[in-house]
Amino acid sequence: MESYDTIIKNGIIVTEGDTVKGDIGIKKGKIVTISESLQGAEGKIIDASGKYIFPGGIDPHTHMDMPFCGTFSSDDFITGTKAAACGGTTTIVDFAIQPKGKTLKDTVKIWREKSDKKSCIDYGIHIVITDMNDTIMREIPDIIKEGYSSFKLFMTYDGMKVDDDTLMKTLMHVTRSGGLTCVHAENYYVIDYYTKKFLKEGKIEPKYHAISRPELCEGEAVGRAIKLAQICKAPLYIVHNTCEASTSEIARARERGYPVMGETCPQYLFLSNENYEEPGFNGSKYVMSPPLRNRENWPVLWKGLQNNTLQVVSTDHCPFFIKQKEMGLDDFTKIPNGVPGVELRMCLMYNYGVREGRISLQRFVELTSTNAAKIFGMYPQKGTIAVGCDADIVIFDPNKELTITHKNLNENVDYTPYEGFKIKGYPIITLSQGEIVAKYGKFIGKEGAGKFIKRGKPKII
Ligand code: URP
Ligand code: ZN
Ligand code: ZN
Repeated sequence: MESYDTIIKNGIIVTEGDTVKGDIGIKKGKIVTISESLQGAEGKIIDASGKYIFPGGIDPHTHMDMPFCGTFSSDDFITGTKAAACGGTTTIVDFAIQPKGKTLKDTVKIWREKSDKKSCIDYGIHIVITDMNDTIMREIPDIIKEGYSSFKLFMTYDGMKVDDDTLMKTLMHVTRSGGLTCVHAENYYVIDYYTKKFLKEGKIEPKYHAISRPELCEGEAVGRAIKLAQICKAPLYIVHNTCEASTSEIARARERGYPVMGETCPQYLFLSNENYEEPGFNGSKYVMSPPLRNRENWPVLWKGLQNNTLQVVSTDHCPFFIKQKEMGLDDFTKIPNGVPGVELRMCLMYNYGVREGRISLQRFVELTSTNAAKIFGMYPQKGTIAVGCDADIVIFDPNKELTITHKNLNENVDYTPYEGFKIKGYPIITLSQGEIVAKYGKFIGKEGAGKFIKRGKPKII
């Protein structure tokens, strides 16, 4: 008789290509059998009747324990990955920030100290280059071989931004070495101009953070990054697109056959610049970069997700307690930038995407898992349900109804921007490499059991 460590029975298995009813046999952390029925086989049974079985979510944009804006993001690799697991995400790719004067080797060492033996789900690491020089250039090929195959450059933020010269050198060298360049695209000088002007005029409230970063400030930088990538014959991935001004640039480039890819995040699909008008200092909860836009951009972003202008929904999870946000009570530029979201991405995308008819189940899987696995060099180990893959699986109850409140979440922060949202459909069991790590919104796995994922060659999709 066939025996397995775990058998998931009677679920509706959804992958990027198919929806089928069946059973999944798991051994030593891997999917070893998928069949119509594993009747009679031995193993711990999980009954998934009436539930969807999705590939574990992959969130390729998180900031755990990140030094930023004079403080640290409030989730570290322990708390943040527990929250991710409870929300159906089984892999994150976090951004290691190169401290000025340090090498890339130093940078990954710092980030591995934050993540190794702490992360509760599997994790990869991108490298943010802030201080480019010849030594760093020489390190790139080797660091890619070690599994750090993607790099990000900030086109804004004092202390981290790079100029176009560095962007070009990175695009060329990373591409030559088989890696992928990502950018945070906003025009530094536009922001600087408005910021100085508003502060001089005594306009210090959180909403001026958004007003100082207009949509075209993002659109211009995205367009420029794409053109530089084109000159360098390099693929490019644009993080956190928020609006028409940026997605139209990506769409145009893709129509012409250029290898440009991009993501958006739930905050840009479900929240708007109206949130900055909330009373008191509440607008600070939504201070992030790029900022929230007007709601006319929502259908534009959905269209981008539907027609593959955008391939991924990540979270840009970067939480700060209200107390930390209050560093900017008298000056919006001192409010730490970022919002939580790692725990709610899957349910929000299911509710507003699949349930409300904007995307199919297959597209949901692509946007939340498969495409990130492909683009960031983890496919097919991750991002699908097939024999030989890691048994990273979410059992998702499409009928579970709830009202979101931060009190029921595991993120280490005292609010959620989605407070009061009513949704239907929630992950009820999450398996990471075959082990149940979360059940009904509670983490039950082993702290530190997540493994570092050595990522391979990025795929252009
Ligand atoms: O406001 C944000 N997005 N904070 C995190 C850092 C970044 O720019 O992605
Ligand atoms: Zn960013
Ligand atoms: Zn980010």
